[in-house]
Amino acid sequence: MENRDITILAIESSCDETAAAVVQNGRTVLSNVISTQIATHTLYGGVVPEIASRKHMENINQVIEAALLEAGKTLEEIDAVAVTYGPGLVGALLVGVAEAKAIAYAAEKPLVGVHHIEGHIAANYIEHPELEPPFLCLVVSGGHTHLVVVKDYDQFEIIGRTRDDAAGEAFDKVARSIGLGYPGGPKIDRAAKEGNPKAIAFPHARIDGSPYDFSFSGLKSAVLNYLNHARMMGEEVKPEDLAASFQSAVVDVLVEHAIRGAKEYGFKQLAMAGGVASNSALRSRMQEACKKAGITLYYPSPVFCTDNAAMIGAAGYYEFCKGARSGWDLNAVPSLKLGER
Ligand code: KG4
Ligand code: ZN
Repeated sequence: MENRDITILAIESSCDETAAAVVQNGRTVLSNVISTQIATHTLYGGVVPEIASRKHMENINQVIEAALLEAGKTLEEIDAVAVTYGPGLVGALLVGVAEAKAIAYAAEKPLVGVHHIEGHIAANYIEHPELEPPFLCLVVSGGHTHLVVVKDYDQFEIIGRTRDDAAGEAFDKVARSIGLGYPGGPKIDRAAKEGNPKAIAFPHARIDGSPYDFSFSGLKSAVLNYLNHARMMGEEVKPEDLAASFQSAVVDVLVEHAIRGAKEYGFKQLAMAGGVASNSALRSRMQEACKKAGITLYYPSPVFCTDNAAMIGAAGYYEFCKGARSGWDLNAVPSLKLGER
């Protein structure tokens, strides 16, 4: 098997993106097709699970066909089918899992179930051929905020996690409260560029005895209280200043925890993953801090930060090479833990 290319068809449908990709040897993306449902969910101010499942069903066949076509591969030329089976919205995950099972069974190919967060972490392998475990990874998405020691391609230790909201969730909620709409992260990122990050001093939650854990619900409440107070007093709030000040409070904590973790655990490589890893302030502030600390920073291009199937193909390749195979009874596991199979 050593000298032969391994080609994986990967499917991702855990939230509001229907995605399929063809990835070779875990690092070369032959195609990466994403059908986003953002326009639909924007009407409701957030992801509506029932609608997400229905949209996945409508789109998944075309998305997979497009991914194969763009890659110039037929199903016969694929070595395995990888699919996200958790964590995520159960109905949304089920569409991808059922589809992957049907394709793998019909084409007589092995099936590999992939953890969504393992996929986010593996997104870093796509554009950084030199990056190999072990390294520390800050995972910041809409549903998760973890500081993870990546011991090997399929071995993880979570050393810090959020006690309440995920970082992306805080971005989305604050954006909604200042009328920026869904999804909030990119909109706050953009608005913050025109604002003063020092305009409002928001709290930076630190948890006694758990230096790597996060908490964002206090910050979110502080933003809402600030807004209510200003409204009551008839004071004008500049949304750009509020966005910049909120973003700066989140970024401060993320940078501080990640750098402390890297130093404490002796890592000279730090990676970032998940939708929030595409935040421009986080990228530049983390880069600055890493430079000072002599740490090399890795992060994926924005298209590989937010949900996509190429990252599932990258993670699926390493799982496949380690011998991981899923049975035809593979099921969606909405609260799947990292490192569990
Ligand atoms: O990783 P992802 O696509 O989905 C999950 O697995 O949750 O992350 C989506 C999250 C959303 O909360 C979105 O607002 C946030 O990532 N996000 C950002 C940016 N782009 C996406 N947050 C801050 N700045 C951004 N530029
Ligand atoms: Zn995700």
